[in-house]
Amino acid sequence: MSSSVIAVETKENFSQNLVIQGPTSKPFLQGRIRVPGDKSISHRALMLGAIAQGQTHIEGLLLGEDPRSTASCFQALGAEISPLNAQSVQVKGIGLGYLQEPADVLNAGNSGTTMRLMLGLLASHPGRFFTITGDNSLRSRPMSRVVKPLQQMGGQIWGRQDGSFAPLAVKGQKLKAIHYHSPIASAQVKSCILLAGLMTEGKTTVIEPAVSRDHSERMLKAFGAKLDIDPENHSVSVTGPAQLVGQTVIVPGDISSAAFWLVAAAIAEAGSELVIENVGVNPTRTGILEALAMMGADIQRENEREVAGEPVADLRVRSSNLQGCTVSGELIPRLIDEIPILTVAAVFAKGTTVIKDAAELRVKESDRIAVMAQQLNKMGAKVIELPDGMEITGGTPLVGTDVDSYADHRVAMSLAIAAICSTGTTTIRDAQAAAVSYPDFISTLQQICQF
Ligand code: S3P
Repeated sequence: MSSSVIAVETKENFSQNLVIQGPTSKPFLQGRIRVPGDKSISHRALMLGAIAQGQTHIEGLLLGEDPRSTASCFQALGAEISPLNAQSVQVKGIGLGYLQEPADVLNAGNSGTTMRLMLGLLASHPGRFFTITGDNSLRSRPMSRVVKPLQQMGGQIWGRQDGSFAPLAVKGQKLKAIHYHSPIASAQVKSCILLAGLMTEGKTTVIEPAVSRDHSERMLKAFGAKLDIDPENHSVSVTGPAQLVGQTVIVPGDISSAAFWLVAAAIAEAGSELVIENVGVNPTRTGILEALAMMGADIQRENEREVAGEPVADLRVRSSNLQGCTVSGELIPRLIDEIPILTVAAVFAKGTTVIKDAAELRVKESDRIAVMAQQLNKMGAKVIELPDGMEITGGTPLVGTDVDSYADHRVAMSLAIAAICSTGTTTIRDAQAAAVSYPDFISTLQQICQF
C-alpha cells in the first residue's frame, strides 16, 4: 500500500488527524515486526533505577511520552538519567530515602502510572514537600485509590475533593506498615503501596480481589527487596526498610502494543500473516491472547524464552473467522488496556461479544466504554454501552467517517485498525496521542498494509 492513503495532517495547535483511505475489500497484511518496549516495565525500570544504589542499565526502554514523564520527574527528584534511547539508558540511582525536594511542580503528563507509583515514594520521604500535576485527562482521573491507603499509612496528601484529584501536594512522612485490602485489582494501587512500604519499618501487605500485572514484584525482587507473595490469596508483602541495588533491565516488547497487530491480522484478508517478535508474555498480561483464542483467532507462540525475569515469545498470527464471546471476571485485569482493540475484533466477528466487569475502563485516559461505543457506532458498528462494559453485535461492514480519539492513545490506534478494515475515508482526530505508548505506530501501519 502506498503511504498516500495513510496520511497525517498537522493542525495549527500541533494536534494531528490521521486520515486513512480504507480498501475496497479487506486489507492483506504481511510481515515481521517488532513493537516498542513495555510501558509498565519501562516506568518501573526508571523508578527503581532512580531509587536504587548504583547504576541501572536499561535496554529496550519505551521512548513514548509516558516513560519520558517518569524520567523527567525522577530527574527533578535528583536521579541522573542519560538521554533516553531504546538501545541503552543509564540511571545513576540516588539510594532509597534520598529523593530531593524539587523546586518546581512535578508533571506526570498523561501518565497514571507515573503519578500513582511516584506518590508512594514521595509520601514516604519524611520532611520533604512535593507537588504533582498532570494533563487535562490525568487531572480528572481518580487518585483517591492510592491517596486513601497512603493516608492510612500516615501519609499527608492534599488535593481537590479530599485528595481525589491532582494537582496534589505531598508532605513526606515516616509511614507505618498496613495490611491493605484493595477493592480493585490494580497494579498501580498495589505498586504504589509496595513502593511506600520500601521505606516503612515492618511488613506492608496488599491483597487484591484478582490478579493484576506483577512487574513491580518481579523487578523489586531483582533489585533486592524482600517480598512475600501468596498467589492464591493475591497477596504481596514487602518488608522495610529495604535496600535496592541497581540492575540491568531488558524491556520486552509491549503486548498491549502487539495487540493492535494481533487483531489487525486476525480480521484481515484470508492468507494474512504477521509475526510480532520479542513480545512480553507475562501471564498477568496475556488475557488478550486468551480472549482472541476464545474468538477463534489463530495465534501461535514461538521461540518462548525468559529475558531478565520476564517471559518473552514471538507471536505468529494468521487471519481467521472470529466468533463473538464473553469476556469478564478475572480475565478483565489481565487485558484491561486491550479492551479498546478487542472491541474492534468483536465488531468484525460473527455474533455477539459481551464485555463485563470492566467499569475501570470509564476512568482510563478517556471513558473507553463511551468513547469506543460512540466512535465505532459512527462508522456503522452495533455497540451498546453497558455500565461496566459493552455488548457488540459483529458482522456489519464499517464505513469510514470523522471520529475522535479524545486524545486517548489506545482509542486512536484501535480506531486506526478499524479504519484499515473499513471502506471510505476515516479521519481520526488527535491521533498524535498514539505517541504516549507507541511513537512509531503510524509508520508500522504503513509498512504492513498492502491493499
Ligand atoms: C498499569 C496498570 C493498569 C494499566 C495501566 C498500566 C501499570 O492500570 O491499565 O495502563 O503499569 O501498573 P490499573 O492499575 O489502574 O489497572
